[in-house]
Amino acid sequence: MSAVDEAIMKQLEAIVPVLKSAKHVVFMTGAGISAESNIPTFRDAQDANALWSKYEPHDLATADAFLKDPLLVTRWYAWRRSLCTKAQPNAGHFAITEMLGMFPRATLITQNVDGLHARAGAKHLLELHGTLLTNRCFVCGKSRPAPDVTDVQTIQEVEKCDECHTERSMMRPNVVWFQESLDDATLAAAYSAAEECDVFFSIGTSSVVYPAADLAFRALQNGKPVVEVNPSRTPLTTSATHFLQGPSGVILKSLVDLLKLSS
Ligand code: OAD
Repeated sequence: MSAVDEAIMKQLEAIVPVLKSAKHVVFMTGAGISAESNIPTFRDAQDANALWSKYEPHDLATADAFLKDPLLVTRWYAWRRSLCTKAQPNAGHFAITEMLGMFPRATLITQNVDGLHARAGAKHLLELHGTLLTNRCFVCGKSRPAPDVTDVQTIQEVEKCDECHTERSMMRPNVVWFQESLDDATLAAAYSAAEECDVFFSIGTSSVVYPAADLAFRALQNGKPVVEVNPSRTPLTTSATHFLQGPSGVILKSLVDLLKLSS
């Protein structure tokens, strides 16, 4: 893994003292943190496998799409789940887990549904967009672990809920689809963290999907420094206090090393 260049190192050295005096640090991640684990992003222009360049979200990631063709949607999410369960957390996930233990308080917020932060040892996280690892009933909401299927073509029917028994009582992925609301309590906790923290990191997100994208701006409105980590510029970049341009695995690992050296 290559080290960061001199310009990034200078910025990291400026961020370290701010972190040293911080009582509460927030890390907010998007698909880019898992790119180095070879999980496709959604809309990264540099990612030849970006999901929304190959698939139409409204055919796969809406309640209407599920009701229209539940087997297709179930198989597509089973395919994504199999990619995630086969993947391994990368240096970026592990660096965040390490930093979670370095401050009096730290909050990890993710838009990802891949489970890699937890597999890298993060104990508490706010999953804004749910998780691929469980399914829930389309009608009553009862959830259970999602089956891990390697060959999705072997899925012949959509699992039914064992609690309620209506025509629509099918097990759907426990993720937030387009046109659906985020969980109120999770979103409220994320906004409070963004408002109250001393430093806010926005890592590997295109910053175009709301309300998640609003969190960094809420931190800025509350006078908090925002550090963006991304190989590409986003709508947040010109407002961010620091823009660390590059892959999160490399940059966050360097940051952890510097924090350890300065302790
Ligand atoms: P996107 O696919 O929109 O953006 C991924 C971002 O990661 C881009 O800005 C890339 O430049 C950046 N990136 C790529 N490689 C990286 C690396 N090695 N290190 C750091 N950053 C890297 O993903 P999100 O912003 O997470 O929602 O997308 C937000 C939401 O849109 C997703 O949660 C999903 C999607 O529709 C739902 O499914 C509800």
